Amino acid sequence: MNRRTLLQATAAGLALPPFTVWADTKNPTLTAATSEIQLLPEKYGMTQVWAFDGIAPGPEIRVKQGQSVRRRVINNLSVPTSVHWHGIRIDNRMDGVAGLTQAAIEPGDQFDYDFVAPDAGTYWYHSHSRSFEQVARGLHGALIVDEAEPVDVDRDEVLVLDDWLIDPDTAQIAASFGAMHDLSHAGRLGNYVTTNGKYNLAKSVGRNDRLRLRLINASNARIFQLALDGLEGWIVALDGMPLSQPLPVQDTFVLAPAQRIDLIVDVTADVGSAGHVVQLDRNESFSQVAFEVMGKSTRARRPAPLPLPPNLEAKPDLSDARDVTLTMEGGAMGGMRGAMMGGQMSSMRDLMRSGNFWAFNGNVGSMDGEPLAVVPRGETFRLKIRNDTAFPHAMHLHGMHFHELDQNGQLAAFRDTTLVARGETKEIAAVADNPGKWLLHCHMLSHAASGMMARIDVI
Ligand code: C2O
Ligand code: CU
Repeated sequence: MNRRTLLQATAAGLALPPFTVWADTKNPTLTAATSEIQLLPEKYGMTQVWAFDGIAPGPEIRVKQGQSVRRRVINNLSVPTSVHWHGIRIDNRMDGVAGLTQAAIEPGDQFDYDFVAPDAGTYWYHSHSRSFEQVARGLHGALIVDEAEPVDVDRDEVLVLDDWLIDPDTAQIAASFGAMHDLSHAGRLGNYVTTNGKYNLAKSVGRNDRLRLRLINASNARIFQLALDGLEGWIVALDGMPLSQPLPVQDTFVLAPAQRIDLIVDVTADVGSAGHVVQLDRNESFSQVAFEVMGKSTRARRPAPLPLPPNLEAKPDLSDARDVTLTMEGGAMGGMRGAMMGGQMSSMRDLMRSGNFWAFNGNVGSMDGEPLAVVPRGETFRLKIRNDTAFPHAMHLHGMHFHELDQNGQLAAFRDTTLVARGETKEIAAVADNPGKWLLHCHMLSHAASGMMARIDVI
């Protein structure tokens, strides 16, 4: 921390870190700045992005489980920023939420992030300041935490799926951030879909190679419907957390904004053809990545993969859980008449004037209002999320993973982002084992910016 951020942090009333050695530690840097990349096919020229270290997605950060991640984030943009480490059970001071867990990093300023990555798996980092704009402009990257013992695969491939809204006349990112329609409907949907910043990503493999694919959805609002072709696969982890048994991929699977899926796949396509991760969009399908099968096939198929080693987790005790309800309302065709905003009952018209369209439990959400719940450390809470809107929402809780509960109220997938379909009621449960102020928000980032934000305080 330099002096300026320190003063800001003090002004904001945040606790200061107990060690001053920080100022002297040499940290690897991660620099946010504008950059030009070849995002579109070459004939269109370069596109300006906001990027970490000049590339979008940003550089892959990879550490071993239990190790520290240290990055000095330098802000060379002309606007404030911050970095959130999505899905890490992190020290609250390092969570990167500008305006809640730290002051934003002003232009020309820097901030030292330093935290332990307790769980192996696939995570990501992204701007958490005006994220509906900054993430869409390219400020995000993969954060991979390797298991203590290497997993038995031939290759490990990180695949960051994104969609961009490009103005076809200029080949530049459309600057329509905060457009009413995006805020009030499904969010900012792009017209150009990439994997690792490429529309035609291809890699060469051998037949029967076994690959670990780490899919990350970095888009603002697009819900990917995916399938495998020429690959036989198993889902082995969701949002970083291993499944107790690998789940064979039979059909299509869904990757909502901010979610991750780890697959282990065997290449079954013939030599000279390719295996694909396929994106299905209405009646069309597109290749998100092609694995071109080269050489002679000498390798034999292997038996089905073993589960990944589990991360340590506290199991929620549902018999003694604190119940919390979250009703989501608003948006286009949602029929909401009004909601509380800044302590005042406001009409839908007044909400719209201030760029707000959604409410949680009748309140336009904000990060600094009353918390949705205050939970003593170690207690289990069960959250019932009711979606009374006409759109799906990908709800993300910071700081802790939660279990989705199945139809019978039993513990199901362990994750940090859950997709709640329109009209659906979904329950999740978590052990509040990480103290701090944690955001709970929709990861359709335009929705988070227009009312879909709440906080859970663990004390
Ligand atoms: Cu990935 Cu609050 O976000
Ligand atoms: Cu939403």
